[in-house]
Amino acid sequence: MAERFSQQNQRVRPSSKEDQVVQKAKEHFERTLIPIAGSLAGSVAALQHPRDDEALNYGEIFLRDNVPVMVYLLTQKRFKVVKQFLQICLDLQSTTYQTRGVFPTSFVEESGELIADYGQRSIGRITSVDASLWWPVLCWMYVKASGDEQFGATPGVQRGVQLLLDLVLHPTFEGTPVLFVPDCAFMIDRPMDVWGAPLEVEVLLHASLRCCSKLMELGRRNQNSRLLDQRLVLTRQWIHDLRKFLLKHYWVTSKTMQVLRRRPTEQYGDNQHQNEFNVQPQVIPDWLQDWLENRGGYLIGNIRTGRPDFRFYSLGNSLGCLFGLLTAPQQRALFRLTLHNRNHLMAQMPMRICHPPMETLEWQNKTGSDPKNWPWSYHNGGHWPSLLWYFGASILLHERRHPDADILLMGQMKAMLEDCYWSQLNQLPRQQWAEYFDGPTGTWMGQQSRTYQTWTIVGFLLLHHFLRVNPNDVEMLDLDDPLPGS
Ligand code: GLC
Repeated sequence: MAERFSQQNQRVRPSSKEDQVVQKAKEHFERTLIPIAGSLAGSVAALQHPRDDEALNYGEIFLRDNVPVMVYLLTQKRFKVVKQFLQICLDLQSTTYQTRGVFPTSFVEESGELIADYGQRSIGRITSVDASLWWPVLCWMYVKASGDEQFGATPGVQRGVQLLLDLVLHPTFEGTPVLFVPDCAFMIDRPMDVWGAPLEVEVLLHASLRCCSKLMELGRRNQNSRLLDQRLVLTRQWIHDLRKFLLKHYWVTSKTMQVLRRRPTEQYGDNQHQNEFNVQPQVIPDWLQDWLENRGGYLIGNIRTGRPDFRFYSLGNSLGCLFGLLTAPQQRALFRLTLHNRNHLMAQMPMRICHPPMETLEWQNKTGSDPKNWPWSYHNGGHWPSLLWYFGASILLHERRHPDADILLMGQMKAMLEDCYWSQLNQLPRQQWAEYFDGPTGTWMGQQSRTYQTWTIVGFLLLHHFLRVNPNDVEMLDLDDPLPGS
């Protein structure tokens, strides 16, 4: 298999057209940006889709799709657009009783009126928890990159942070630090049995709380408030507990699996901590053995009583790495795992969203026979080029932070990243910057894929920027970095 890969990669490697492709991508990207109240405010989700006449929402500004857009604009020092985006999202933060504090999934201006979707207009009326969690992260990145600390300290931002924290820092029935969410609450926004405490939401929650506390520290410079101090203490405690919880219950390696398989079950009482979720060894899937090999590790998709979800979710793992939830050795274990499973995770179109896909019967039961999530398609094992930059940035940031660690491995990771970048560069323009790709190798353009999808275009531009233009800019994503001059 390794040999097949290197041959394939030889075939798609150097192209003298790099500059042209980048130039064209930049032009497409400019067309995605739209104004709200006269100033550029963000990007539509896609420029085209197969059924242009249908009333679908791809012409709206999605908060999650605008994450790479905003990061890219920060690298271009287009701070005004980012601030306008952040401000509009903040103005749209819900104030109604049942959703107070929630940020919109998407919004659009129609005949001079701003219309937001909090889930009440979406297919299946689903909730986007990730949108709300991303907002403080983007706000913090903006403050750090632009130096506009004043914005971070404004009463509007400070109030927004408190409203968001109200949604998280409150007592719950289960008393754990995770945020419980329904199915479809993040990028995977169609039924995929990802309810409860899905990795992507929990990892993002960790990053979000960290950014909330950084923003609160800015607010504290202007006001002396006992309430704010208490909130900070509580938030920091929550961050600590959440990380501990995630590393304990989601992180697996070959070694931890051997312990898990032989743990006692049916444990009752205060001092029995080996198997809190009463997981039976029979639920451990066979494919995990080769997947983990000797020195690989990853964060599993979800933990629920008796039912861990062992699927690999690329975005949750990349964010766990990028935002430093994983320790440096764990990050390298994740890199080893990716290298080992490269023919699955990267294949012809990096990178697969979730592995393995659910097969027919499971697909029927768990997705409600959702035709878009058919095995090997869309969220169910499809390949999403927009995911590569998150993983790529994790590698590049790791290398900067730990330049002397495992040079051999990091060399292999960089080479893999280059190959992945080249396969996107060679294929995406021909495939019209499609939203997603189908099949075990990810070669076919997704069956219902939109084309000229913004995060496909801008994800590629970001990776190009970090690899070729300004490698230092990857530090914008580092949440451990303090404010310049502080
Ligand atoms: C689809 C994707 C979702 C994305 C939206 C707009 O619904 O599943 O993650 O935000 O399209 O591109």
